[in-house]
Amino acid sequence: MKVLVESNRDVECSVLVVGVCAPLKGIPAELAKADETLGGAIGQIIKDRSFEGEFGQLRSFAALGKLPQKNILLVGLGKGSEVTLDVLRKAAGISARAVRDSLGAKDFATVLHEVEVPKSTGKERAAAVAEGTVLGAYQFTKYKTVDVQKLKKLERVLIIGAGLDDAVKRAVAVAECTAFVRNLQNEPASNLHPKELAEHARDLEKKGVKVAVYDKKAIEKLGLHALLAVNRGSVHEPRFVVMEYTGGGKKKIALVGKGITFDSGGLQIKPGDAMVTMKCDMSGAGVVIGTVRAAAELKLPVHLFGVFAATENMPGMDAYKPGDVVNTYSGKTIEIAHTDAEGRVILSDALAWTEKNIKPDVMVDLATLTGACVVALGSVCAGVMGKDEAVIGQLVGAGVKTGERVWQLPFYKEYHDQIKSEIADVRNLGNIQKEGGAITAGAFLSQFVEKTPWAHIDIAGPAWSEQDLEYVRKGGTGFGVRLLVQFLEEFR
Ligand code: BES
Ligand code: ZN
Ligand code: ZN
Repeated sequence: MKVLVESNRDVECSVLVVGVCAPLKGIPAELAKADETLGGAIGQIIKDRSFEGEFGQLRSFAALGKLPQKNILLVGLGKGSEVTLDVLRKAAGISARAVRDSLGAKDFATVLHEVEVPKSTGKERAAAVAEGTVLGAYQFTKYKTVDVQKLKKLERVLIIGAGLDDAVKRAVAVAECTAFVRNLQNEPASNLHPKELAEHARDLEKKGVKVAVYDKKAIEKLGLHALLAVNRGSVHEPRFVVMEYTGGGKKKIALVGKGITFDSGGLQIKPGDAMVTMKCDMSGAGVVIGTVRAAAELKLPVHLFGVFAATENMPGMDAYKPGDVVNTYSGKTIEIAHTDAEGRVILSDALAWTEKNIKPDVMVDLATLTGACVVALGSVCAGVMGKDEAVIGQLVGAGVKTGERVWQLPFYKEYHDQIKSEIADVRNLGNIQKEGGAITAGAFLSQFVEKTPWAHIDIAGPAWSEQDLEYVRKGGTGFGVRLLVQFLEEFR
């Protein structure tokens, strides 16, 4: 799908999408001409109140050859005073699918971004519409073989306006990187092992990113003992990947991701229902790859490192066991109190390695780390914690702007006391059953970060969607790419 900026309002295409706010008192000025041409058809639905501009309401008119566009699609945006950039993103997602699936068209022009949104610029609105369009039209069809030729696809989207090219180009690139991450998340775990995940990172070499991929032997040499411990239950080799994009900027930024390509729980195996979506446990790593890709494509002026550790967590014959004590890259020992708390175990090595070898000025990790975070926050936002309030504040701010929201969780000393071990340096589970699980997991990670300003984002909730929403589709969401690109653009 191509998303382009078009200055000619009267461009010929299948559909013109127009946003309408509630309450609708009369025909909106921008529709007056169309209404006249269509013999008052628009005015009629306003009069009979069958269309009131409620959020998500859709209504289409055939232009019967009287307008340059074959159809007009009205999209309700809800109360005018409550329209935000995220409302535009959502409306764009809904209307893109309405054009494709209901009207069966392959192209449309949109003026959704022309509605008023307090404190926003035209460029921001056009970007939101472009993002919502690409993300809302996303579909994972790779494994469909029956009637594939019947699958409906959008080919061309025109954003009407002038001077919007850069903003739209950026938005489309970031949305496409998000879709790329969704593809990785949606890929069945038996087709995306650590090796294949690493190859997706390797592909970024084409975009000028330096990529180092460490296989099992190299990982042994590096001394990533914790990663190796989790890997023991799997027949597939682990990978450790370091990407470096040098686009300028004095400060080094490191993103670190959890790359569990499938989380069965290990010997303390998950119940079936809880395992069903565990192909998405590599989301942190996927988002790191997607963000480095976006930074490279947008030529962001940053010095960015993307690091991830990848393995399956499986209950194979040599699997690590509850009660084991495992060594780590940092030298600290971990008591394995639960084999299903594997993400923090592999991240302990990834974080310690990154801090020691890259010496970043800031480090942010992303992980589908705990079910506890999903219980606490649901899937509408991620949890963020750490010891650097400035970094956390920047992430929270970027979340508000992008709609990929993060909510800070407390990081009090008491939580840190709960991961003390009697036989090792630290335990991979809080010692008060099920209390504060998202935070004790973060507290565990903090044991492996000595002095670098660092924040941990638990994306277990928003990484995956159980339902089709406006611009989030069922399955992997790619949550984190737009957030981090915004963070990178603002980081000084
Ligand atoms: N990958 C899971 C966390 C998760 C849960 C991600 C739901 C996405 C959706 C993680 O490795 C895990 O299993 N955590 C356990 C930890 C527990 C054993 C302390 C959990 O949250 O149940
Ligand atoms: Zn687990
Ligand atoms: Zn996991």
